[in-house]
Amino acid sequence: MFEAKIKAIRQYVSAAGLQEIDYEIAKYPQDERQSAVMGALRIMQKEHGYLTREIMDAVAVYLVMAPMAVYEVATFYSMYEHKPVGRHLINVCTNISCKLCDASAIIGHLETHLNIKLGETTADGRFTLRAVECLGACVNAPMMQIDTDYHENLTLATINQILEQYT
Ligand code: FES
Repeated sequence: MFEAKIKAIRQYVSAAGLQEIDYEIAKYPQDERQSAVMGALRIMQKEHGYLTREIMDAVAVYLVMAPMAVYEVATFYSMYEHKPVGRHLINVCTNISCKLCDASAIIGHLETHLNIKLGETTADGRFTLRAVECLGACVNAPMMQIDTDYHENLTLATINQILEQYT
């Protein structure tokens, strides 16, 4: 049984990645492997760029979970991708504080500057642009996240300069 679990996931993850997943699993009681699902999905995505159905199924087998329970987690959180994205992911918050501070203008500026619409990726594969719900930096609205970096108190004048940091 354990062999089958290893085989299922090893098709999709490196030995180092699997070690990382085991490290996540070890944080929880032995009969609670499924608690590592978010960490396991993050590691799989780091290696593949996005999560396919086959990858989510392999995670389900390895963590002894129903596949549906893995899909629920993977589709609920905006940090999980289900199709190829650009090298850098721009998430612009459009929740209430940011909306009141003109997040729409930020998005409009990015769409024009990058020549893409929300949900699209630039032709050179550099950026994918998305709108997301509150990212917890409301006090410094409007804001956007690029990869793991927060950029707050955005103005139309600072956006292009910020983008240049990401090649
Ligand atoms: S509303 Fe934008 S970070 Fe909270």
